[in-house]
Amino acid sequence: MKNPDVVIVLAAGEGTRMKSATPKVLHRIAGRSILGHLMAAIAPVTGGELRVVVGAHREFVEAEVIATAPAAIPVYQAERNGTGHAVQLALAGAPTTGSVLILAGDTPLLTTSTLKEFIAIHEANASSASVLTADMPDPFGYGRIIRDDNGGISHIVEERDATDEEREITEINTGVYLFDNAALRAACAKLSKDNSQGELYLTDVIALIKGANSVVLAIRSNDYTETLGINDRSQLAECTAVMRDRINDRWMKSGVTIVDPTTTWIDVDVTIESDVTIHPGTALAGKSTIATGAVIGPRTTLTDVFVDAGAHVIESTCTGSHIGAKANVGPYTFLRAGTTLGTGAKAGAYVEIKNSIVGDGSKVPHLSYVGDATIGSGTNIGAATIFVNYDGVDKHQTVVGDEVRIGSDTMLVAPVSIGDGAYTAAGSIITEDVPAGSIGVARAKQRNVLGWVLRKRAGSSSAIAAKRAGATERE
Ligand code: UD1
Ligand code: CA
Repeated sequence: MKNPDVVIVLAAGEGTRMKSATPKVLHRIAGRSILGHLMAAIAPVTGGELRVVVGAHREFVEAEVIATAPAAIPVYQAERNGTGHAVQLALAGAPTTGSVLILAGDTPLLTTSTLKEFIAIHEANASSASVLTADMPDPFGYGRIIRDDNGGISHIVEERDATDEEREITEINTGVYLFDNAALRAACAKLSKDNSQGELYLTDVIALIKGANSVVLAIRSNDYTETLGINDRSQLAECTAVMRDRINDRWMKSGVTIVDPTTTWIDVDVTIESDVTIHPGTALAGKSTIATGAVIGPRTTLTDVFVDAGAHVIESTCTGSHIGAKANVGPYTFLRAGTTLGTGAKAGAYVEIKNSIVGDGSKVPHLSYVGDATIGSGTNIGAATIFVNYDGVDKHQTVVGDEVRIGSDTMLVAPVSIGDGAYTAAGSIITEDVPAGSIGVARAKQRNVLGWVLRKRAGSSSAIAAKRAGATERE
């Protein structure tokens, strides 16, 4: 198989039906833009020139094009006069010989292997124009393939220009074409706006090339889901679900247990080792990496999180963090950017941690906030401890050593440091460093006012209970 000499991607449309401030092809599926998915699929078959027609929201779409394919040549279509017009512009200045592959930027599910098969059949038949078609359960909105008496393609008719009878046809134009360069150029020059939208339809070149007595093929793909186009939010959701299933299948085949694939959402750039278990309601986003034996979920979202072997993360939201081997996170834990949990460390229920290192075997088990801190190994942070890192203007660091025991409800007012093996008394507000091996006590001494309830709350249920226990009114 020879790679096409020119590849043209059409992405100038407004995407009006999306009703969005974001250009259609930049909406995201599984962590990648619609256009990005297509660009990834065509990369292996792009040998010659790659031209991407941009128009609406030009600067954003162009930036995405260059980010995914730095060698691509953006072509600006100032006025959207149709797919045929877009191709006319793209051909100007492009090589004039060989073959031209054309795709729409809004078909993100297309695979490289389908494209390769399509190109191979086109070549084997010395075709001048080939269009990839599919049988759609719901063909609404697509161009329909009209076949002639010999079963070959006669022409393509758009939904809006079709008769009722033609609308019954389920074989549709996927918007993927391969042309002989010269034949395409000759046909493009003959396009007219004689249709319901008053646009130049690329689809019309099929009949024009066929009329020139050349071989024209409609090549049917056997998986219609690959060629689903996105015009509105329902189709976006439909494609997203197909992509989810495709990604999940791939991971299950490589040895990952996904308990409920319908509620598990894994981005394309995530990597997962075998024998990871993912429970329902879990999203693995960005460039997250999950090592073998880890258990993730239920109801967990990890974005750009590195999870080491055997760690457990339950009912938690984590971003930009590193979770060490055999560490435990959750339930209801929020790990923010810059968090590193050491081997066997724990971040338990209702704990928030950001920009902090929690050393090997150290635990933050309950109801705490840890910000801008370094915690050594084997240390325990008592329930409801707050690392007071913000003075209202600046953020400050807290350093806690190895084998420290922070008492429950301690406020560690940064900048402050707690030496190795030190303790703090429960309820302390620690504003000064605590040396190694010491206990920091910073709270008011307790005073009991005897009989207060019996005097001030006489007759209350508490007073009655106190009396029963032998309490008296005297001070
Ligand atoms: C088009 C096809 C239809 C096919 C469907 C497949 C035509 C006339 N119709 O319809 O037969 O079934 O794709 O998904 O081609 N674009 C430009 N410049 C323009 C107009 C469109 O670059 O002036 C781009 C769009 O950004 C989009 C692609 O071309 O990526 C297709 O345009 P769209 O408006 O989505 O065409 P459909 O109505 O889907
Ligand atoms: Ca479309």
